[in-house]
Amino acid sequence: MRSKVLIEQALESAVTASEAQGCPPRLAAAVRHAVFPGGARIRPQLCLAVSMACGNDDPGLAMAAACAIELLHCASLVHDDLPCFDNAATRRGQPSVHAAYGERLAVLAGDALIVMALGRFASSGARRIERLPDVMATVVQGVGMPTGIVAGQAWECEPRVSLAEYQRAKTGALFTAATRAGALASGVRAEPWAHLGDWLGEAYQVADDIRDVIADPGLLGKPVGQDATHGRPSAAAELGLGGAVEHFDRLVAQAIASIPHCAGAPQLRQLVQLESERLVPVSMTSTAGVVRRPMVVA
Ligand code: FPP
Ligand code: MG
Repeated sequence: MRSKVLIEQALESAVTASEAQGCPPRLAAAVRHAVFPGGARIRPQLCLAVSMACGNDDPGLAMAAACAIELLHCASLVHDDLPCFDNAATRRGQPSVHAAYGERLAVLAGDALIVMALGRFASSGARRIERLPDVMATVVQGVGMPTGIVAGQAWECEPRVSLAEYQRAKTGALFTAATRAGALASGVRAEPWAHLGDWLGEAYQVADDIRDVIADPGLLGKPVGQDATHGRPSAAAELGLGGAVEHFDRLVAQAIASIPHCAGAPQLRQLVQLESERLVPVSMTSTAGVVRRPMVVA
C-alpha cells in the first residue's frame, strides 16, 4: 500500500515537471488526464515489490524504472483507445484522452509520455549508475520491437496470429520488464525473476479477456465486449468462460510458485494473491455461473 502512495507521488512530480511554463496547456491537460486517476498501478507495484524482495539498495533507480513502466503503460492505453485501434470512448471511468481532447492531442500525449518515461532514468538519482543500462534495456525490450507491447499491438494488423504470442507481447512483455527491472535495479540477476512476470502477464491478459465478457462496465470504467466487437483473439473465445477462469487460476498458482526464494517472498506471494482476487473476484465469476476453488497461499 505504501509503495502505491510513493508511486503516485513520483508520477505526480513527473507530470508536474512537464507542465512547466511554455507547455501548450491542452497538451499538459491531456497528459495529466492520461495518468490520473490511475488504475491499480500493478506494473510499477510489481517492479518495486521485486526490487524490495531483492534488497532494494538503490530505491531511486527502482522507482525510476517503476514510473517509466507506468508512464509507458499509460501511453499505450491512450494510443490503444484511438479510433484507428479500439475507438474506445471511456477509460478508467472517464472519457478516453481522444474523446476528451481530440485525436491529434491524444497521439501527442502518448508521444510525450514515452519521452517522459525515458526522462525518469535521467533524473532518478541512481546510486548504482552502472546498473542503469541494463535496467533501461529491459524496459525498452518490454515496449518496443521485436516482442514488446508495440509489437503485440501490431499483431492485430497481421492476417494470422498465435494467441499465445500475441498476448505474451501485448501484455506479458511489460509485466516481464517490471519483474526483471525490479531485480536489476537491486543488482540481482533478472532471469530467475522473469518467470514471475511471464506468468503474471499471461494471467493478467486472461483476466482482461474474462472481464471483457462478464464485468460490469460501470465498475470496470471502460467498455466491455471489445474482443468480440473487434474480432480479437481472446482466452474466453478460445477456451469458453469456464475454461478461461480455470486457466487464470492455474496461471496465478504458477506465478506464485515461480517466486524465487528470498526474504521478501511471503509479501510478494500475498501481493500476487490479492491482485488476482481483485482482478477476477469469486463473486464476479459465480454470478456468471462459473464454479472455482479458492486458492490458498501458504
Ligand atoms: C490494451 O489492450 C492495450 C495494450 C495492452 C497495449 C497497447 C499497445 C499499443 C497501442 C502500442 C503503443 C505503445 C506505446 C508505448 C505508445 P486491450 O485493448 O486488450 O485492453 P483494454 O480493454 O484495456 O483496452
Ligand atoms: Mg483496448
